[in-house]
Amino acid sequence: MDGAGTTLIDNIGSLVTNDASRGDGPLGIITDAALVVEGERVLWVGRHDEVDRAGADCRVDAGRGAVIPGFVESHSHLVFAGERSEEFAARMAGLPYGAGGIRTTMARTRAASDEQLSANVARLTAELVRQGTTTIECKSGYEQTSSGELRSLLVAGRHTDEVTLLAAHVCPPEYEGRKDAYVSMVVEEMVPSAAAHATWIDVFCERGAFDVDQSRAVLLAGRQAGLGIRLHGNQLTHSGGVQLAVELGAASVDHVCHTDDADIEALAGSDTVATVLPGADFSTRNTYPDARRMLDAGVTVALGADCNPGTSYTTSLPFCIAIAVRDLHMTPDEALWAATAGGARALRRDDVGILAAGSRADLSILDAPSHLYLAYRPGVPLVRQVIRSGRIVAGDSSQPAEGRR
Ligand code: NIG
Ligand code: FE
Repeated sequence: MDGAGTTLIDNIGSLVTNDASRGDGPLGIITDAALVVEGERVLWVGRHDEVDRAGADCRVDAGRGAVIPGFVESHSHLVFAGERSEEFAARMAGLPYGAGGIRTTMARTRAASDEQLSANVARLTAELVRQGTTTIECKSGYEQTSSGELRSLLVAGRHTDEVTLLAAHVCPPEYEGRKDAYVSMVVEEMVPSAAAHATWIDVFCERGAFDVDQSRAVLLAGRQAGLGIRLHGNQLTHSGGVQLAVELGAASVDHVCHTDDADIEALAGSDTVATVLPGADFSTRNTYPDARRMLDAGVTVALGADCNPGTSYTTSLPFCIAIAVRDLHMTPDEALWAATAGGARALRRDDVGILAAGSRADLSILDAPSHLYLAYRPGVPLVRQVIRSGRIVAGDSSQPAEGRR
């Protein structure tokens, strides 16, 4: 499988299409399924006994395993240097998480070479892919100078699909006590000069980071420069980020751990996706978002890993699915949808997160008969093979069942 010709993937125990018109339930599940890839796209999905076997150039035997859409990771901070394991240990011993640790990573990132940053992003994207992720959003935000944010965007753009300018992550030390001056610099200088290298603008709207008015100014500058809006909101406190996201028509508001009735009502009546990042709450012992209430109210919920060295140093969407099911009271179906189609919604993409004719051929074959096992067998590496844009990108590319016919 090399992104050219046609490949038949058959003997699929259960296929999650995320296309309710093609299979059972909201995940559109087809049992005893097959799927045909042509080049970089899905050509056909359906039942194993209905596929046209004659035409395919190559065959992959799923061995009765489940096939799921590739995960769409809509929130990551991969451009950084250094690590913060001691901060993590101190937190587990009782210290609270505050935005201050970001400055530790900022100092290490500013001092790193382009090559070091690029190698770190390559390492983390490889980890994500090995665990079934095929679309990755990545933020800047650990340099916070005009030239530094620009280089972070360029590094991110070399390895990931969607690049986000997180110009206002925390107030950098050289602007200590002058946060408004930093915001003015971001609005007038940083956003206009960096916007050509990003798709999205993000801001950390939180106590200790940026308040609602400062966040609004940065996000509107991003919109003015042609960027789509997403933001970190209501992670540590009831910061007002959710209401700001809805006011501005943001594609996504992320974390959403502290929400009230008015927030949930506003989200439910909007096109803004609520992205839950339970890996961060797990590693900071933060309040988990009330995903159950949001889902029951009709909010669109996405699930991300939020890989970063401070709050969530994981690249495993399966781990986050397990937490979402166990602790956020999402059903296994809701959690899988949120990590695939939900992530795609959060990025306003309709070509990924779904396995239907015409969508990008991004999928994982699991060493498990159904997607339920992702939560049922937490911590077990169940992703056997990953295919992105019709190419095998992780797992054994020479398994005996595959071959030219
Ligand atoms: O998503 N909340 C802000 N940003 C990151 C944490 C960054 C850090 O602590 O280095 C997050 O949790
Ligand atoms: Fe984040």
